[in-house]
Amino acid sequence: MTLNFKNQNDILNLEKLNSNEIEYIFSDKPINRLKTKPQLEDKIKLLSKLRNEIKNIDNCELKNNAKQLVFADGNNQSKIMIIGEGPGQKEDEQGKPFVGDAGILLNKMLEAIQIKRNNIYITNVVNYRPPNNRKPEPSEINRYSNYLRQHIAIIDPKILILMGSTAMESLFGSKIKISKERGVWKELIIHNKTYLTMITFHPAYLLRQADQKKYSWADLKLIRKKIDELKISV
Ligand code: URA
Repeated sequence: MTLNFKNQNDILNLEKLNSNEIEYIFSDKPINRLKTKPQLEDKIKLLSKLRNEIKNIDNCELKNNAKQLVFADGNNQSKIMIIGEGPGQKEDEQGKPFVGDAGILLNKMLEAIQIKRNNIYITNVVNYRPPNNRKPEPSEINRYSNYLRQHIAIIDPKILILMGSTAMESLFGSKIKISKERGVWKELIIHNKTYLTMITFHPAYLLRQADQKKYSWADLKLIRKKIDELKISV
């Protein structure tokens, strides 16, 4: 084998290299050592791969009873990611998360802290509507949490907002209570990366328990403060 260099400045003792049996591959392109985050193209490919995996899930009562997959909504470049529980009737019909009554309240909550919904990324713990809007079973939460973790790693948000106990359970386990865990910044570790996470009440719960809105408002203010501190544009 004879080695050829495109760039003659790369002279690395050619004779020495050509004298042994090892195959060397050289490139004169600089190595981008700063490239740590997936580029947009990679992100789109990874999201589409994940979407297909969930579309092809087998033996799932949720998928078998739902009209369609509800994957996500919003800006996949966002630094803010919201996780709900699972699609309801309207979401199942439209194929988008948070478009029913809970979604209307969620939009108002975001507006109250000057966040445009289109600027954030939203998904759910399970991506198919549970029959009769039942809460997903622990085994379902567990099965889908694998997809959810991948989803978070792909979006790579600076702030993760978990809405309700199902989202909390999916990522932090079932031994804790949302009333104790909400309203403080936590660290969630996925694939060796730490995500700053806020657990807060689900908008559907707030529709039933209006007296809890004061806690939710306190959480929203903490989220706004962190957005400002981290200089995230929303
Ligand atoms: N509730 C959720 O948790 N997710 C939705 O998408 C809609 C309602």
